[in-house]
Amino acid sequence: MSTSIFSKTASTSNYERMTGNCTRIVAAEMVRIKSPSITSSSYVLDNACGPGIVTEQVKLLHPETKILATDLSPSMIEEVQKRTENDKWTNVKTDTLDVRDLSKLADNTFTHVLTNMGIYVPNDPNFALQAIKEMYRILRIGGAAVTSMWADRVWLSAFSKTAMMIRPHEEPSNMLRMDPEVLRGSWLLKQIEDGGFGNNAEVRPFATSVSATSLEELVENMMVAAPLLLKGYDEEELSRVKPILKEELTKLRTYEALEGGAVRIGMKSWIGVGWKKGDEKEVPL
Ligand SMILES: C[S@@+](CC[C@H](N)C(=O)[O-])C[C@H]1O[C@@H](n2cnc3c(N)ncnc32)[C@H](O)[C@@H]1O
Repeated sequence: MSTSIFSKTASTSNYERMTGNCTRIVAAEMVRIKSPSITSSSYVLDNACGPGIVTEQVKLLHPETKILATDLSPSMIEEVQKRTENDKWTNVKTDTLDVRDLSKLADNTFTHVLTNMGIYVPNDPNFALQAIKEMYRILRIGGAAVTSMWADRVWLSAFSKTAMMIRPHEEPSNMLRMDPEVLRGSWLLKQIEDGGFGNNAEVRPFATSVSATSLEELVENMMVAAPLLLKGYDEEELSRVKPILKEELTKLRTYEALEGGAVRIGMKSWIGVGWKKGDEKEVPL
């Protein structure tokens, strides 16, 4: 999908640099779902899998678990296939599928559908609902869909401030901006409820962070987003970005310098769970 920053053109190493572990930390929490827990006899869909971050986290806990990893981007799927080979994962299959249309997958198939940061794209207000309806359909009774979403992406404001220092009379890019409404936990809960899970839905906050081994590395990693956020800047302007960005990152409210030179920027996410129990159509009184 062309509107996402994680489109076919984004290489996976860029993905790892830009995310700086922030989706991995959320994935590690999602796979620890307690009811029902993931076991070696589960069948998991890693939906909008990217380079296979959720798959990796499941495999760390349960190497035998059967997983289907799907994404719309063929380059992401290639990346999962490479990791499957390199890490000698067993029971992992892949497919290039759209979260909004999983019609290749039969009803009542999976024990768990995990979708880490994969239910939102800008300019498509029905994206999340379509995706959740599909998750509900393909889950077995007794299964659960675990879905995450951002509550904030603190680092983006360092880019906006940098842009304003360089081009003070221009609005910074809104390429990656999300409607504040979709960053609310209540938005995610509504998608899960309305997507078919009804009263069998729950959302909670979860803290994560983007990190790097040094501030310099963090700046370099963040520069991966420069073509999107600083589009059209000339060479002279671009040459001023790094030192300003470096300073703006250190001013962020969640910026932390850790022992040994590593740095991180705290971020907040939401983790939602929908359980398919079979009683979702009951009207609450
Ligand atoms: C933010 S990344 C999340 C990746 C991964 N789940 C993780 O834990 O890091 C979003 C992913 O959604 C994929 N994506 C975007 N639109 C999609 C769609 N319509 N159907 C399936 N995947 C899609 C992108 O290619 C990208 O890999």
